[in-house]
Amino acid sequence: MHRRDFLLRGAAAGAGFLASTGLQGESTPPTPGEVIVISTWPFGKAANAAAIQTLESGGSALDAVEKGVMTAEADPSIQSVGFGGLPNRSGVVELDAAIQDGRTFESGAVCSLQGYRHPIKVARAVLDHSPHLVLVGAGAREFATDQGFPVEETLSEGAREAYRKWRKKHPDGKGPASGHDTLGLVLLNSDGHICVACTTSGLAWKHPGRVGDSPLLGHGLYADDEAGGCVATGDGEEITRVCGSFLVVEWMRKGATPEEAIDETLDRIARRSPRGRDVHASFVAIRADGMTGAGSMRKGFHQALTRKGKTEVLSVPAFVDRTTDENKR
Ligand code: GLY
Repeated sequence: MHRRDFLLRGAAAGAGFLASTGLQGESTPPTPGEVIVISTWPFGKAANAAAIQTLESGGSALDAVEKGVMTAEADPSIQSVGFGGLPNRSGVVELDAAIQDGRTFESGAVCSLQGYRHPIKVARAVLDHSPHLVLVGAGAREFATDQGFPVEETLSEGAREAYRKWRKKHPDGKGPASGHDTLGLVLLNSDGHICVACTTSGLAWKHPGRVGDSPLLGHGLYADDEAGGCVATGDGEEITRVCGSFLVVEWMRKGATPEEAIDETLDRIARRSPRGRDVHASFVAIRADGMTGAGSMRKGFHQALTRKGKTEVLSVPAFVDRTTDENKR
């Protein structure tokens, strides 16, 4: 089927969007007072639990997404986030994180932060105590110090060993960068308030100073109480090219379900990225009415979804397996 026909099929179905394929994870509107949390990867399960617990202890939605993603930042076995994250090609861990409030549009982000295991706490401090939205590198570090955050060792033993092996293979320190399992989390509170947070060590062996989508508003995360919230994981350069999370939220604003919105965005990446469909890009989203969805260009992605106090880790079918090149071009 030609792409135009494929789009028309979506329109004929009444949506005007790429036809939803009835994937798991899409859901009916919440019951009143229900809190919904969705996050990326199986390690999102612990993040969702911490977010819910924070709310139950009287914390705000913003506190909840911050505390949620801190779980992965503290876990040295997760090699793509916080302490445990793999370093850049010089052996230095540079962390990125961002947080956004979908009601006020307040946000804070840090990029290429060195010396702090919890970049999301520094991003939150940017939101709370700085007139700026984004601080990078040495400036972000100076801000963290001024805010009283203690400098910490950020290279875990596992990451140090992985770097040692990588440098043995690439003695000039110029091997390819790889891997990027960002923890992103979207929370819809019982009063319809949406907050989002993202945290990552970015690509392993990246060029020093490289920043992907995760700490950039509209790319790795975006929330608007009037439309919905979305977070991304995958190849930051490709997600950033299309303003991925913003695009998903804007499709939802126009009435797309979260899955349709994500499919449209994956389709945009597949058609417009120089790498076509050979891209890692995955999104999870909650629409303002509580409908949730997840989508991924390639297989292997999982969402962690918490509804009615129960969390499930669900495999997300690949866009490239559900569609053909012909459909998408
Ligand atoms: N998606 C994370 C990164 O590319 O850095």
